[in-house]
Amino acid sequence: MGNGAAGTTRTVDGFTLKMGGEANLDLVRPLWEKLNRMHSELSPHFKQRYQKMDWQWRKAALLKKSKAILLKYVVDDRGETIVGYCISSIAREDETVGEIDSLYIAEEYRKAGIGKLLMFNAIQWLNGRGVKTQRLLVGVGNERAIEYYRQFGFHPLHIVLQKREE
Ligand SMILES: CC(C)(COP(=O)(O)OP(=O)(O)OC[C@H]1O[C@@H](n2cnc3c(N)ncnc32)[C@H](O)[C@@H]1OP(=O)(O)O)[C@@H](O)C(=O)NCCC(=O)NCCS
Repeated sequence: MGNGAAGTTRTVDGFTLKMGGEANLDLVRPLWEKLNRMHSELSPHFKQRYQKMDWQWRKAALLKKSKAILLKYVVDDRGETIVGYCISSIAREDETVGEIDSLYIAEEYRKAGIGKLLMFNAIQWLNGRGVKTQRLLVGVGNERAIEYYRQFGFHPLHIVLQKREE
């Protein structure tokens, strides 16, 4: 562990944590597209919804609902490859409400503590901004993630049922 350039901190061995915001969300587009594909494959009822969704739509929705956005991403040792990211936000309409919007670690880099590092950073940011209600959505089909988030104090509250748009 040690400090690097501004906005950069040495973290999990061999990886570097970097900070961004609204202006450089596009950096994580390729990984978000993998996450979206994964959701589409796992979803039993809304495959097409995910297939229709694209990054521009997702980014616009994120910017519309957020008063502040934190992007944290992790790069490999050479600083060339983004191996994982977490986007979190504070609601525009109520700054006591915050969300972990998107978390994805490239498959070959999982189980190395990168997800945990990103989650702790996001929660710390939300806590620091006085966000009382912290939430996240888990897509049906991706129930494995429910277990993962439990360790950070997130628990299932309710299940949203939505009508398919056909
Ligand atoms: C879920 C995800 C972000 C975890 O990231 P990661 O970097 O592999 O996780 P970590 O290395 O920080 O794991 C930390 C701990 O959780 C455990 N863990 C990892 N994945 C888990 C899972 N799916 N269920 C339960 N525990 C899990 C690890 O064993 C580890 O435990 P340990 O520290 O006691 O050994 C990653 O698997 C991922 O990107 N999955 C696909 C996308 C996704 O599902 N995103 C979340 C939904 S939006």
